Formats: sequence, C-alpha cells, structure tokens
Amino acid sequence: MIFGRVKSLDAILATAEKKSLHRSLGAFQLTLLGIGAVIGTGIFVLTSEAAQKAGPGMLLSFIVAGFVCAVAALCYSELASMVPVAGSAYTYTYAVVGELLAWMVGWALILEYAVGASAVAVGWSNHAVGLLSASGFHFPAIISNADALMAHIQLAFGAAPSVDLTTAETVGGWINLPAVLISIAVMGLLVLGTTESAFVNAILVCIKIAALLLFVALTWPGMNTAHFEPFLPTGSIGVFGAAASIFFAYVGFDAVSTAAEETKNPQRNVPIGLIGSLVVCTIFYLLVASGAIGAIGSQPVTGANGALLEPGSAEMAGRCAAITASGAIEPLVCSKEALVHVLQVIGHPIFGWFVGLAAVLALPSVVLMMMYGQTRIFFTMARDGLLPTKLASVHPKFRTPHIVTYVTGAAATIAAAFLPVGKLADYSNSGTLFAFLMVAVSVMVLRKTDPARKRPFRTPLVWIVAPLAIIGCIALYLSLPLTAILVLPIWGILGLLVYFLYSRSRSFVGRGVIDDSGEAAPDATHR
Ligand code: ALA
Repeated sequence: MIFGRVKSLDAILATAEKKSLHRSLGAFQLTLLGIGAVIGTGIFVLTSEAAQKAGPGMLLSFIVAGFVCAVAALCYSELASMVPVAGSAYTYTYAVVGELLAWMVGWALILEYAVGASAVAVGWSNHAVGLLSASGFHFPAIISNADALMAHIQLAFGAAPSVDLTTAETVGGWINLPAVLISIAVMGLLVLGTTESAFVNAILVCIKIAALLLFVALTWPGMNTAHFEPFLPTGSIGVFGAAASIFFAYVGFDAVSTAAEETKNPQRNVPIGLIGSLVVCTIFYLLVASGAIGAIGSQPVTGANGALLEPGSAEMAGRCAAITASGAIEPLVCSKEALVHVLQVIGHPIFGWFVGLAAVLALPSVVLMMMYGQTRIFFTMARDGLLPTKLASVHPKFRTPHIVTYVTGAAATIAAAFLPVGKLADYSNSGTLFAFLMVAVSVMVLRKTDPARKRPFRTPLVWIVAPLAIIGCIALYLSLPLTAILVLPIWGILGLLVYFLYSRSRSFVGRGVIDDSGEAAPDATHR
C-alpha cells in the first residue's frame, strides 16, 4: 500500500526532543521573524506585475492572497503546535498522510524555497542596479537582466513577434550578474555558518517597515482618487491572476513554524507569530499599494491590438521601452522597482533612493531565509534516507550542512541568472500552494485519525477553515499563468521518478529504521 508509510508522530517528537535546539524565541521575536521573512521582493517589485494584471483591483488581490495565507496559517498553526519540530510542511505530512505525499511536499518546497530565493535575488538586483544608477554609476544593461535572452527564447517558441521587440533587445541583457553575485554570496555565508541573529533580523525589519511607512507618508497626502477608476479594468479574472502572483509577497510566514523547535512555549507563540506577521504585512501591503495607485495610477498597458500584455513577456518589455522612449512617464506596471519609481515620479528622488537602499540592505536576509529553509528541508529529507545521506553531512569545521547548501545555492544562482522575477515568483507560488494545500488536508486527516492527541492550538472552525484553505490554494493555482501551472505537474513527475527509482527503497521508515539520529543536526540556524 503506497500510502502506508507514515512516520510516527511520537518518533518525530522523540527525535526532536533528543536533538532539541535551544528554545529562546518568544511571540514578539517570532512575529518579527515572520515579518522579516515575508516583506521583500513581493511588495517592492511585484506590485507592478499585480497592477498589470488587475489595475487598481490589485487591492482586492492583496486581500484574496492574504486571506488564503491566513486560513493556511491557521492550519499550519495546529500542526506546528502539535509537532513543534523543524522541517515544516514536509514533516507534518510525513506524520499524517505518509511518505509518498510527504516526499511530494518536500519536492514542491524546493520550488517554494530555492526558486523563491532566486526571485528575491532578482528583486535585489533590480534595486542594486537602480541605486547605482541613481548614484551616477550605470551598470551595463547587458549583464543586469536576462530580458533579451527571454525575448529570443520566446521568439524561438513562437511568441507573436512585436515591432517593439527590437527596443526590448537594445535595452535588455543576457544574464543577471548582480542576482548571481548575491546568490553566491548568500550561499557562501550559509556555508560559513553565518546566522542571522534575532537582533539583526529586528534591525532589518525596522528598516523595511521604515521604508514602507515613508512611502505611505509621501504618497497618501497627494492621493488622486481618480486613479482608482476604472477599478477593475480586467475583471475578476484579473483580480485572481494578480492574487496568484502577489501571493509571493506573503510567502515566508511558514518560516515561523520551522522555528518551532527553537521557540519558548511553541503552543502559544507559534500561532501568534504566524497570524501576527500576516496581519501586520497585509495592513502594510494595502496601505502601500493604495499609495502607489493614488500617486501615479496603475492601469495596465496593452499591445498594439489592445490586448493585455503578459508581465515579463518580450512584448511587454518592448511596449514599456517604447513608452519610455516616447518621452512619456514610465507607467507603474513597467517599473522594475515599483516603490522607488513612484517616489521618483512624484518628485521625491532622494526618498526614492532611501527606499531603494532599504531594499538593497534588507532583501539579502530574505534570500538567506529562503535558502536556509531549503537546506533545512533537504537536510531533513536526507536524514530520513529519502535523499543521499551524503547530502546531510555536516562540515567538520563550520558545522553547517555544506553540501546541501552548495546544491541549493547552485540551483538558485542558475535560476536567478536567466529568469525574470515575475516568472520565478509564479513558479515558486505553484510549489508553495501545493504544500499549503497538503497542510490543510493533513489537519483534517489527523483530526479523524488521531482525535485524542493533545492539540495545544486548535484551528478554529477547522471543517470550514481547512476546506477554505484548500479551495483558496486550488483557485490561486489555477489563476497562475499557464507555464507556472505546468511547472508543478512536470516537477512532480520528476519527483515521482526520483522517489520510485531511488528514495523508496532507501527510506529509513520503509526499512524499519525509525530514528536515524546518529547524524547530528547542524549547529547553524538563521536566528
Ligand atoms: N514574501 C517574500 C518576498 O516578497 C518571499 O520577497
């Protein structure tokens, strides 16, 4: 029976008890940790893409995406409080619905974390290049993005040639060198065991919140309500499409649950940290997005035939280049650094420079958090025998899982070098939505199969909340662009091949080895 291999909850808890990390985090620090992992490229960059898909209706998109995350977080909280160990959705599903689905979740989490890390690296690159340019140093376009490469690939695959494509090629590049450099730098830091202390995280959270508050303070007073009309230029399809993409802006709150092993009184504090960070971020996102719309408008741009252009496409790049070349102000939907651009347009270039600096300072910690999350998932899967145990080896000097870190870093670097931020975020979202869906399923299954187990935090109205999370995840998944929808099954089939050809026969649970705790957990954590 292929769903029969379930890792015993008691065994997981016993393992965690033996290897337990020092419990030092409280509710406030956890909330800060969540905010630190969540606020990043999503709001600083992808606001433009959301605007291209939904216009001012992106405000509804932020609410829809935030709502799906909130119901998923309530499910996460129940499992995280019952199983307060590292490994997140992968560990929960292993204990509840068995090895095969846990493997699929772990495999999908690679999309969430490794591809997510590369998306944030590209967002960082946009701001680093912009900041240099505002300071008088023009980083060559040919090595600061991969737009021209994408244009050629799209043409090769039969995308409609556009007259504006030539313009896209002249301003576009072939490789995103800054994104490559930041990915390699973060990988190096993780190998060395650089850990982001709660103190550093708190400072970076303050920098990000200060930047967003500054943005709100500068954009709200001069808000032009006419910019909110038409509110839904692309209808409800557009709102859901933008929600599916902007969902990336909320990803990362699950980092709080992976910190459960290091949390004081996780039963109380993990749910507070998860929900608290989501609430704070949603409020900020709505304030910031309203400020951006009110300041310069957010209507989508269309192609020559009036059709809506896809963000990140060669046609869109060409159209945007043509608009700017004509001397018109660059629309919000075209900008690679949405918030900085808005401030520049409304006459605050210096404050725009500061917001760009805040992004350049703070986004590397989001890359670090995501790469760290990936190494932890790989490490746990290898410790369970599902990946080569060599991957779980710990560096003799630095005490870090260096091999998984190299693998993760290489994957994230290659993706960041050649793909645009919006596509990377969409691919990451497809994996994350699958993991969230499985967590919601697991909560319900466990309520039926193990009703007596102590639940320090119970998802309220679970028979409504968990199905809502499932429906929400499916609705957002189906609202992603087609390529991102296809990424999940293709990646999944690859995962199944690896599982049946390699992992299944080597699994410790399958071989009856309940606890392979001979391998010590790495010392380093990101806190
Ligand atoms: N939510 C994180 C970001 O927007 C991943 O960068």
